[in-house]
Amino acid sequence: MCQENIITPKKKVLSCIQPSGMLTLGNYLGALKNWVAMQDEFECTFAVADLHAITVRQDPAALRSQIYSTYALLLALGIDPEKNTVFIQSHVPEHANLSWLLSCNTQFGEMSRMTQFKDKSAKHPENVNVGLFSYPVLMAADILLYKPDFVPVGADQKQHLEIARDIATRFNNIYGDVFTIPEPYIPKAGARIMSLQDPNKKMSKSDDNPNAWVAILDDKDTIIRKFKRAVTDSEACVRMSEDKPGISNLITIYSTVTSKTVAEVEKEFEGKGYGDFKMAVGEAVADTLAPVKQRYDEIIKDKKALEALYREGARKAEKVACKTYFKAMKKVGFVI
Ligand code: TYM
Repeated sequence: MCQENIITPKKKVLSCIQPSGMLTLGNYLGALKNWVAMQDEFECTFAVADLHAITVRQDPAALRSQIYSTYALLLALGIDPEKNTVFIQSHVPEHANLSWLLSCNTQFGEMSRMTQFKDKSAKHPENVNVGLFSYPVLMAADILLYKPDFVPVGADQKQHLEIARDIATRFNNIYGDVFTIPEPYIPKAGARIMSLQDPNKKMSKSDDNPNAWVAILDDKDTIIRKFKRAVTDSEACVRMSEDKPGISNLITIYSTVTSKTVAEVEKEFEGKGYGDFKMAVGEAVADTLAPVKQRYDEIIKDKKALEALYREGARKAEKVACKTYFKAMKKVGFVI
């Protein structure tokens, strides 16, 4: 009997990250760790979402340097620009172009419900710009251009993913099939890493208190110092519990970086004090991130090599983005 050799195409993955400020341990555990893990099994497209960053006022020189640094960091984490498409969002104009088509098919009411818009506009009342409001539409364009099956993100992006699915479904229903409806890919552990200073708040690079977050590029001493200062409770028992948000956050971090289960972590620190536990978490995180920093320091030195990679990334991305964009334009009735 002759058996046909059927090669099934790889499923597609897309995700992006903003280049605003230092990338944090939250970005790493909630998203980037999965990006690295997914590149063998999936056809992956990853972008530095620089257009999104200007929804908050940025210093031009700092923004430019952050875009370079974020791109370099993706490579330092082990994302392979040859195997995947890795590019800078603003280099592919179809993102902004498709965003307009989608904006005209998105309701004001839907956007008004976005919690991130409410949070950010409360934080920056002096700059509640239209871009901040329509940010999720641009994000939907980022995603839909590449027809991904999965979008690996942390839990805070779930609502944006849902709206991207709604926008795509509505567009397909009105104009015919153009977009794939993507599935969020949110890790079971690490999807929401909390601030080390206020464990009821998400760890965020925009937090004014630098002790609240660990940067992927922090050195070992800084990482350990930040964990030593982490806010806990007075029970002195390493156990996961809703009423112990500080310790629960540290357990999540430790178990995610060491691949130990929560039960194993609780057992390991049975009868030990918080001092020992915080030290162990700091060491484990520092050891995981040290090689990344080492690679980053090498990569960022060679701007020419970086430039060649992001230009090639944009060329590959544009080829795909163009096809989807023109299909959408045609369906809406534009003359191509
Ligand atoms: P951004 O740049 O804020 O964050 C990048 C990724 O990191 C995740 N993340 C976290 N995960 C766990 N715990 C935390 N404390 C934490 N903080 C951040 C985020 O969930 C995200 O996955 N709008 C997006 C960027 C974007 C995008 C896209 C993502 C633009 N276009 C298209 C996916 C697809 C954002 O601001 O992520």
